[in-house]
Amino acid sequence: MKNVKIIATGQYTPDNIVTNFDLEKIVETSDEWIESRTGISKRRISDGEDTSQLAFKAGKNALDKNSILPEDIDLIIVATCSPDYHVPSTACVVQGLLGAHNAVAFDITAACSGLIYGMKIAKQFMMEERYKKALVIGSEVLSRIIDWKDRNTCVLFGDGASAVVLEQTDENIGIKDIDIYSDGAAGMALTCKTRPLRNLCVESDEELDHIQMSGSDIFRFGVKVIAKNVKDVLERNNLTINDIKYIVPHQANTRIIETAARKLKVSSDKFYTNLSEYGNTSAASIGIALNEMMEKNLIQRGDKFIMVGFGGGLSWGYALVEY
Ligand code: ACO
Repeated sequence: MKNVKIIATGQYTPDNIVTNFDLEKIVETSDEWIESRTGISKRRISDGEDTSQLAFKAGKNALDKNSILPEDIDLIIVATCSPDYHVPSTACVVQGLLGAHNAVAFDITAACSGLIYGMKIAKQFMMEERYKKALVIGSEVLSRIIDWKDRNTCVLFGDGASAVVLEQTDENIGIKDIDIYSDGAAGMALTCKTRPLRNLCVESDEELDHIQMSGSDIFRFGVKVIAKNVKDVLERNNLTINDIKYIVPHQANTRIIETAARKLKVSSDKFYTNLSEYGNTSAASIGIALNEMMEKNLIQRGDKFIMVGFGGGLSWGYALVEY
């Protein structure tokens, strides 16, 4: 059985920056409240570009930086909960824009766990000879599904996209352990409905829905997922935390990450965070963090790191990677 390694990462975030001070002008909030409760000071918000465009630019960034030809990509998976089309899939739009005409392309929905879900699915595909290289993208224009009058949610999120290119390898490196989980029974803690049901049988004056969540439930869930999954993956692979260079968590809230670090009795320096710059970009967040780390040379050949995601569904997952 072949291994699967990460050969490239990429990202794209809109240029337009919205600070906490900008939000003070539209809802009753303050920079101090947002910064102290979440760690977020600004986020990128699309001024016109859509999820498929962000996804395309993140994918292209990963391919171009590493001189990978689009026609060599066999599989494109886009994770998003804010697609611009119901049909076609965001992944098919990206395939067309990239000219990746040999790929099969489809979307998945796993909210903030999307990139890890995508990597898991890609790895399973890549057990077959046909799928030698896969492009996994997390892309969100969450600003489309946020209620900009709701201070409980609008301060938390940002728009962005990230990409990871995976390749089959005979080397004993790459994704060493990866798994994903769901708990649909708890799913109502974080929701966003699609269009209201209105048809020849149903008359409805239901408004378009926006992201809603139970902040404290998600907070507790996030802490538990990070702490449990890091502990479990270390045990299962006979590793200690000292064998791990970095933990790359979903970027939802600095306090979630710090509380999980305390539970694990690990310095929060072990966790890479960039929440301050981007807020929570859902499926894109772990990949944006990873790409930044690669660009800063924080990860070298042979280093091990753990990616851990959690989000709507509820869904969660982790990946142990040796680079
Ligand atoms: N500005 C000012 N006050 C606010 C704001 C705001 N933007 N938002 C809420 N408040 C108020 C609340 O109304 C409440 O006021 P009240 O006591 O008069 O009712 C008060 O602040 C305290 O609210 P809490 O919910 O107790 O604040 P908390 O410290 O729990 O922080 C937060 C809220 C930041 C949402 C926190 O619960 C959290 O981070 N939860 C995790 C959720 C998350 O990160 N979701 C992201 C998406 S989900 C995902 O990525 C999986």
